[in-house]
Amino acid sequence: MAKEKIKVAIAGVGNCASSLIQGIYYYGETNDTVGLMHPDLGGYGPGDIEIVAAFDVDERKVGKPLEEAIFAPPNCTMVFWDKIPKTGVVVKMGPIFDGISPHMMEYPEEISFRPAKQEPVDVVEELKKSGAEVLVNYMPVGSEQAARFYAEAALEAGVAFINAMPTFIVSDSQWAKKFEEKGIPAIGDDVKSQVGATIVHRVLTKLFEDRGVKITRTYQTNFGGNTDFLNMLERKRLATKRVSKTEAVRSMMKDKLDDYHIYVGPSDFIPWLKDNKICYIRMEGEGFGHHPIIIDLKLSVEDSPNSGGIIIDAIRAAKIALERGVAGPLLSISAYTMKHPPVQYTDWEARKMVEEFIRGERER
Ligand SMILES: NC(=O)c1ccc[n+]([C@@H]2O[C@H](COP(=O)([O-])OP(=O)(O)OC[C@H]3O[C@@H](n4cnc5c(N)ncnc54)[C@H](O)[C@@H]3O)[C@@H](O)[C@H]2O)c1
Repeated sequence: MAKEKIKVAIAGVGNCASSLIQGIYYYGETNDTVGLMHPDLGGYGPGDIEIVAAFDVDERKVGKPLEEAIFAPPNCTMVFWDKIPKTGVVVKMGPIFDGISPHMMEYPEEISFRPAKQEPVDVVEELKKSGAEVLVNYMPVGSEQAARFYAEAALEAGVAFINAMPTFIVSDSQWAKKFEEKGIPAIGDDVKSQVGATIVHRVLTKLFEDRGVKITRTYQTNFGGNTDFLNMLERKRLATKRVSKTEAVRSMMKDKLDDYHIYVGPSDFIPWLKDNKICYIRMEGEGFGHHPIIIDLKLSVEDSPNSGGIIIDAIRAAKIALERGVAGPLLSISAYTMKHPPVQYTDWEARKMVEEFIRGERER
């Protein structure tokens, strides 16, 4: 269908990378379209994506063929497609920086990170050698230095950048300028899952607003058993995640709730849940005659595949931006696929904007 494969590099071969790669091969080799927002996006199917380079720092992944590393512990997401052919890609050692939180060492190795001893490679060189056109950043929450390092590497290597985690890069005007000046498209920050806690909470918030209900209080709390949740037990690492998740919901309100009346955040780690994430949302409001309206909701999802199809769309959007010579933050696809985009729109507006972008009626 497509003219050529989209060459993608990945920083962080964790659960999200595993789901993404399984999905690329699953949808590439079957006719199934269940779970896809766009079976075709700009002339590209999911199977038209090729991973050409991957970086990690865990001793069970570095030096391994990518098709093995995605199933190595502590990855624990569901395996929905294990027929991954030999990719020819070996996972390279990245610089660790703040990627591994010290508290990880207090947990058994099957569920936690363990640093590899190798010297890091020259990431910019590797990106250039691999021919990568797009770099997806999957650093753990709170890896501020590591995330910025990979963003700089993308800039230096001239590779489009997708920031799947909540270090504010694409939504930061200084960084945005750098991408514009270098002629590179960027999508970010912090991926908004297919039907995850954020989009459900946003849509309900918009529903209350549109139906004239005054929102008085709300919370959203999440827990799971993957390394993303283990990492977030270190509260200091959580600051940007909390901002990203809270603003994603608060941006849907005309009268913004103050910090006391809105609580949004990850809260605990339960190892046996593995990649199953549980989310509780409560919304309290006042309707006609100030009568009370309360919603209590429980969402249970497999966390990592929930973001896989979203990134598959973001990669294809980055590719069509490259083809069209569009540089800097891509506002429509960022608003649709990310929790903390440069500009927030409602999910319906963002969806319409994305369709216009795909058809070429909107520049970014
Ligand atoms: N649905 C979702 O799962 C979802 C949604 C929104 C955001 N995110 C974010 O995406 C990111 C990735 O999530 P995940 O579930 O794949 O996490 P994960 O813990 O499974 O994977 C992170 C990977 O990064 C590696 N790593 C750590 N430091 C590194 C460094 N300096 N260089 C290279 N690799 C390094 C780890 O070894 C691990 O393999 C997280 O920040 C998460 O919050 C995920």
